[in-house]
Amino acid sequence: MTREFEGKVAIVTGGANGMGERVAHTLAQRGATVVIADRDGERTPLVEKEIRDVGGDAHGIVVDVTDEDQVRSLVHEVSDRFGRIDVLDNNAAALELTAEDPDLAALETSVLMGTLVGNVVGPFLCTKHVLPRMLAQGGGSIVNMASVSGMLGETSLSAYGMSKAAVIQLTKAVAVQYGKYGVRCNAIAPALVMTRNTTEWMPPEFKDVYLRNSLTPYVGEPQDIAEVVAFLASDASRYMTGHVVPVDGGIAAASPIVADRRDLG
Ligand SMILES: NC(=O)c1ccc[n+]([C@@H]2O[C@H](COP(=O)([O-])OP(=O)(O)OC[C@H]3O[C@@H](n4cnc5c(N)ncnc54)[C@H](O)[C@@H]3O)[C@@H](O)[C@H]2O)c1
Repeated sequence: MTREFEGKVAIVTGGANGMGERVAHTLAQRGATVVIADRDGERTPLVEKEIRDVGGDAHGIVVDVTDEDQVRSLVHEVSDRFGRIDVLDNNAAALELTAEDPDLAALETSVLMGTLVGNVVGPFLCTKHVLPRMLAQGGGSIVNMASVSGMLGETSLSAYGMSKAAVIQLTKAVAVQYGKYGVRCNAIAPALVMTRNTTEWMPPEFKDVYLRNSLTPYVGEPQDIAEVVAFLASDASRYMTGHVVPVDGGIAAASPIVADRRDLG
């Protein structure tokens, strides 16, 4: 096991569930001090304990990343306790709203506003408050969680798609504005990844649709994303910034008629 994050400090927002949880485990296994920043007051201490039980250095902080005062306190606390912040994984999102996110004409404005706050304002605030620390120490890596829904049109998930397109633009702005000062910023665009988000809020048929349109014989698991977050967070990717990396079973690479052609034999 490589320990490329030894001496480094990482904040993982939404680290108490799903992909964020796997990212927290993975970075800790590879030597990082990991801060699990999540609003889930039950799961945050549990994930902290699970990581500590296997020898990792994890610290759970219950926080709502859409609240600027809470984000300011989070960043102060992490800086005071650990002296630096090397990695920010902007992973948390308001996924509970995806169940109420249909086509545009049927989309409630309140759902759009809630989605933008949860999916864009949260990453913006964390970035805004972490940046001064990264700039003061000479650099850092920010990894944002976008989605293929932020790159391609969808029949539903209208608010979600708009919010993830904004996350992609946030990524490029950070890369351009702070790259010369050592701060890199990249985004990951997953397609379907099996987490509670996909099992609790998406109709079960979605999995079959994604599977049919994937070029791989499987859909994604949280560890598939955690591996790419770890790569983008580490110095192994030091020449990459401002990009969106699809981790999607090839969905965004394929012609839209591939699945139908395959069915024709
Ligand atoms: N699962 C997928 O298929 C999929 C696909 C593409 C992109 N994504 C993106 O990946 C990320 C993680 O998704 P997941 O499926 O692991 O979700 P999840 O629901 O399993 O976990 C999300 C975590 O974020 C936390 N959270 C949400 N809002 C928060 C807030 N305001 N403050 C603090 N914590 C907050 C939740 O408590 C939860 O622990 C999200 O950005 C999502 O949009 C997911």
